[in-house]
Amino acid sequence: MRRIEIFDTTLRDGEQSPGVALNADEKLQIARQLTKLGVNVLEAGFPIASLGDFEGVRRIAQEVRNVSVAALARASAKDIECAWEALSLGEAPRIHTFIATSPIHMHYKLQKLPHEVLELAVQAVRLAKSKVADVEFSAEDASRSDVIFLANVLSEVIKAGATVLNIPDTVGYATPEEYATFLRAVMGRTIGIEKVKVSVHCHNDLGLAVANSLAAVGVGVHQLECTVNGIGERAGNAALEELVMALHTRRDQYKVDTSIVMKEITRTSLLVSRLTGMLIQPNKAIVGKNAFAHESGIHQDGMLKERSTYEIMSPSLIGLDVESIVLGKHSGRHAVHQRFAELGLDIDESQFEELFSRFKLLADRKREVTTADLFSLVDLQTEKEDQIHLDYLQISSGTNLVPTATVGLMYNGQRLEDAACGDGPVDAALKAIDKVLGTKGKLLHYSLQAIDGGEDAQGEVTVTVKFGDNMVGGRGISTDIIEASVRGYLQAVNRAFGRGWIKILEQKAN
Ligand code: KIV
Ligand code: ZN
Repeated sequence: MRRIEIFDTTLRDGEQSPGVALNADEKLQIARQLTKLGVNVLEAGFPIASLGDFEGVRRIAQEVRNVSVAALARASAKDIECAWEALSLGEAPRIHTFIATSPIHMHYKLQKLPHEVLELAVQAVRLAKSKVADVEFSAEDASRSDVIFLANVLSEVIKAGATVLNIPDTVGYATPEEYATFLRAVMGRTIGIEKVKVSVHCHNDLGLAVANSLAAVGVGVHQLECTVNGIGERAGNAALEELVMALHTRRDQYKVDTSIVMKEITRTSLLVSRLTGMLIQPNKAIVGKNAFAHESGIHQDGMLKERSTYEIMSPSLIGLDVESIVLGKHSGRHAVHQRFAELGLDIDESQFEELFSRFKLLADRKREVTTADLFSLVDLQTEKEDQIHLDYLQISSGTNLVPTATVGLMYNGQRLEDAACGDGPVDAALKAIDKVLGTKGKLLHYSLQAIDGGEDAQGEVTVTVKFGDNMVGGRGISTDIIEASVRGYLQAVNRAFGRGWIKILEQKAN
């Protein structure tokens, strides 16, 4: 079977999702898991975009092995130099440079004539090629570009040394048949196309990203660009797990395979959701909570008689192991340690003892400690590395009472405390935090859900907060939903603080 390469851009295009801001440690954790998942290329970030992006790419290139690490750069010398600096210690670096080729982008965004764009593209690829052997060129908004002009640009960048040509559907406008016809027309007119790999990168604005990518497979492209859980700009990118499972389940149709270790799909999806704070919709294909759930009596009856009546793929294929050992208060160190390792969480011995004590405390309150609970224990551990911590929280609320919160936070070894009233207890608690720190966060999104079923489930709160012009996400977990809200908000505060987006009241801290 022909092997198709998977180019994962969760850490670049995915990280461009509104409200997502990962730090270098979180990016490294995801990169390691993506390597276990078996992606061929891992786009680690856009180094010129920020110091944080640069650092994330640098650390991934330096520390992650057995995968090609790519960095994005506009078609400009400054971007390419910066991408190279971030990638230079990598094992198999790829510079990914791009410029838009559609009339609408060239005219309004770039304000350049087509021949100027052609020249910039060629210069960019030449410069990138002087740094690395592996150079990807993307024609942004390719699917709305003129076929002849695009083929000309691609022919010239091949001469300049490009090894991979990406023909994206940047705005998610294409339809599958149209995109396939377009790709055939462009590839048929590109001189030297047989010497390079062809890639596609589809956005999901019309919900067609996966369908368009699969249509491209039929045309014979070599690489699919995608993100875990389909996260990314606007409606996101083609979802990696959907592409991989469609190619596998319908290999009779597509006749290609990938190097993806399917058993790692669930773990990767959970990790990305947890660290980005982007929840997965329950009915999301492959990784949604309900993707393998059978509710109606007729379906359950069919499943009990013969699974294939309603199940086209086995959940165990993607690492959703329903029969796995149940962890609870009688579980020992070995079983708990092993489960952390299976979840791709690198826990060293010194951290493990503390995690295990927390596990025991939680197991006393819950019949079964689930995968999501284990992640929550690690979240609490990560909170210890935050600069601002919750020390205590006191709430007074009820009918005919003005909800009031008193919050104590620890910063620089000092306790900072204040109280505030609000529309409800959560509002009061978040206002109290802002009062303590002198910050002004605008809550854009707030969601609360039980992380696993059952009356003893922990509550998980996900928030998106705007500080000035910057949006940042946070996630908090606790058996107390107000505490979970406070922890989620504080995670957002810590992230914004770590990136220098907010200042806190120094006079109180000193
Ligand atoms: O959507 C797009 O066109 C991109 C390019 C930079 C590849 O993300
Ligand atoms: Zn994109």
